[in-house]
Amino acid sequence: MTKIKATNVTWHEGHVSREEREKLLNQRGALVWFTGLSGSGKSTIAYTLEHALMQRGHLSYVLDGDNIRHGLNKNLGFSAEDREENIRRLGEVGKLFVDTGVITCTAFISPYRKDRDQARETVGKDSFFEIFCDAPLDVCEQRDPKGLYKKARAGEIKGFTGIDDPYEPPENPELVVDTSKTSPQEASIQIISMLEEAGKLPTLTE
Ligand code: ADX
Repeated sequence: MTKIKATNVTWHEGHVSREEREKLLNQRGALVWFTGLSGSGKSTIAYTLEHALMQRGHLSYVLDGDNIRHGLNKNLGFSAEDREENIRRLGEVGKLFVDTGVITCTAFISPYRKDRDQARETVGKDSFFEIFCDAPLDVCEQRDPKGLYKKARAGEIKGFTGIDDPYEPPENPELVVDTSKTSPQEASIQIISMLEEAGKLPTLTE
């Protein structure tokens, strides 16, 4: 539970609405929340999607777990409490990004269901799309792009997700991508269709 210390603060409304920003961008703000094990393809798909959207003339931005932990969240580790705070902050940052009208992608392991559900609440159900990158652990471990599974198996990293720390798969994600069978390009086409159907992006014929 976050202890509220910010007292005597007042919300200040601006003169430009989210709708006006969305009209300017010809899209609606959305948060595409990728979740899955390390090495499951979250960042790869997120960056592929961002690029595909840019090529279609749409503004997207990726908030990536490792990158955010270089700055905003450099004071957080990997205990359950720190992971919760990591996801809480990113839910709040995501909410701000969505308010700008940007199609925002987040790539965090986000291993705890309750933390992801909280992020969904924070951002708003209509703007939140949970994408489960569902690659089997042995596939992620084989990929091991950062050599971290090897270190975790050797006991050099403690509490590594999937090895000696939990991962709770989503129960009702908007989309499941088996990244051992689906390419990042195919996955991003599926996500774009989903965003079109939800009215977040105009269809190409519009
Ligand atoms: S989360 O669990 O809080 O959502 P986040 O996505 O920000 O994690 O960061 C995960 C990344 O941190 C991994 O891809 C990996 O590069 C690195 N990492 C370092 N230690 C751990 C650990 N103990 N468990 C998982 N990932 C770790």
